[in-house]
Amino acid sequence: MDFQGQHILSIEQFDREAVEQVITLAEQMTPYLNRQKRSTVLDGAILASLFFEPSTRTRVSFSSAFNLLGGKVMETVGMGASSLTKGESLYDTAQVISGYADAIAMRHPEAFSVSEFASGATVPVLNGGDGANEHPTQALLDTFTIFDELKRVGKNTKNIRIALVGDLKNGRTVHSLSRILSLFPNVEFTFVAPNALSMPEKILSVCDNAGHRMNMTQDLSTGLQNQDLVYMTRVQEERFNTQEEADLYRGKYRLTQKIYEQYCATNTIIMHPLPRDSRPEANELSDDMNRNPNLAIFRQSNNGVKVRMALFALVLGVEKQLKQHESDVNWYSNKTK
Ligand code: CP
Repeated sequence: MDFQGQHILSIEQFDREAVEQVITLAEQMTPYLNRQKRSTVLDGAILASLFFEPSTRTRVSFSSAFNLLGGKVMETVGMGASSLTKGESLYDTAQVISGYADAIAMRHPEAFSVSEFASGATVPVLNGGDGANEHPTQALLDTFTIFDELKRVGKNTKNIRIALVGDLKNGRTVHSLSRILSLFPNVEFTFVAPNALSMPEKILSVCDNAGHRMNMTQDLSTGLQNQDLVYMTRVQEERFNTQEEADLYRGKYRLTQKIYEQYCATNTIIMHPLPRDSRPEANELSDDMNRNPNLAIFRQSNNGVKVRMALFALVLGVEKQLKQHESDVNWYSNKTK
């Protein structure tokens, strides 16, 4: 796939080769992330970071990725800080911001809004999550993590058994992740969700049409068994009509170290896109698992920087120039220790 100048809006744009291209380049970003080397390959470039919905990881890791390649970032956070509240269209906003920046990272609460925005943009737009629809860069970092973690524990990467647990209806990360894993051979999906929060039919069709095995259950202990990976998710309470409705499902699935030991196979890898809801009434992924070496959540969030660096390098066409813009790091860093 020729990435230069492209928007990254949906996993539908990707084939397996394009995913592997991103993963391979992301691996080359490790020395920058670990502060063994620094890069100025995007010196002079500007990223506009437009986040109209709360975010910690996606927003900061997009910025960190751009900075680590030598570029600068300008941010707008929250709808209230934008002229969208004055009735300006996404198209007009995109035209204007394209004049100020070389790339745009955007999150918006409405499904397909980032695509609408991109139709007015003349620089690459990277979707940082559009409502309950998609989160393509999360899926890419999740896929990077899945292969990395399977290799770490010495498991076969050619047959993947994964349980996706929680709010599969509203969780955009699990939509994009199911799409992306469907591009690979021999994936067995187990969808663990209450009936009302089950995976949308259109995503199930993608998995089915790709010939993958699918299991459905509402029971966590059943879903945890015989998996290589378990991907926990939060109840997306911001997508429910009322708090009362969301509260019906919060805390329904809780993975603790005791449950892990009882049901999970040896070296089952635990992932979560984060944020995990650590309030007592939810607590879908217990803090008591923090010492479990197979809890991959913080390696997963760290991989987000490498994957987003790779995407910026590709869409801005500098992926082959990294070495010539590289130098040593002079400041103290304990990241590689
Ligand atoms: N995983 C993820 O999208 O996290 P944030 O909402 O903090 O960006």
